[in-house]
Amino acid sequence: MTIPDIIIAIDGYSSTGKSSFAKLIASEFSFLYLDSGAMYRAVTLAALEQGVITQDQSIDEPRLKTVLEKLDAHFEYTVLGSQTFMGDRCVEQEIRSMKVSSWVSPVSALPFVRNWVDERLHQFAANGRVVMDGRDIGTTVFPNAELKLFMTASDRVRAQRRYQELSAKGSTATLEEVLENLKERDYMDSHREASPLQRAADAIVLDNSDMTMREELAWVKGVIQGKFGILE
Ligand code: DC
Repeated sequence: MTIPDIIIAIDGYSSTGKSSFAKLIASEFSFLYLDSGAMYRAVTLAALEQGVITQDQSIDEPRLKTVLEKLDAHFEYTVLGSQTFMGDRCVEQEIRSMKVSSWVSPVSALPFVRNWVDERLHQFAANGRVVMDGRDIGTTVFPNAELKLFMTASDRVRAQRRYQELSAKGSTATLEEVLENLKERDYMDSHREASPLQRAADAIVLDNSDMTMREELAWVKGVIQGKFGILE
């Protein structure tokens, strides 16, 4: 199935499988995949490494602004797919740690951080034919995206997925800790002032609690065919 040069925006709660789904769409339709959360994670990793988080566990904002001035966070496309880099260092694994996960929501709530990330996302997507996942892609980053999806899944399924991912990478975090982190992030992401996580009025909801990736792909193909009048 061939589809037009559109922007596909996928938003939703933490660990709903947005990035796996977005990668699948990218490979099926030859789209560029952009993981906006990875940019927020890279900023958070840089903040942690460069002493932006102070002793009293708050964020030194002027210092973070200075870090951003010099930060070169970008994606490179390798045999492993899209990988996040800071300069010439691949940080794809490090940005997924629990430490980064526990700081990424407060860091991403800062308006100057969001502007910094948004600017880069627009540059990366300049040539179109992009599928991007995040929290505010359909509402703020690309409000005119031709296809908007909003993903959700039960807490139990989401925590289990994230826990398995982390355990496979050697993390010792418990299922309870992972669940707590998901809930905390969802709360912070949905309640912050600057572009909170919310479903765009024209986004189509996908609850994938009981779906396989194959079923998700069949579902999105049906949506695209209906929306753009494409025959298989
Ligand atoms: O998709 P993820 O779990 O890797 O994203 C990490 C965090 O980044 C998420 O908890 C909130 C923030 N984020 C955001 O605020 N806006 C986006 N478009 C993407 C992610």
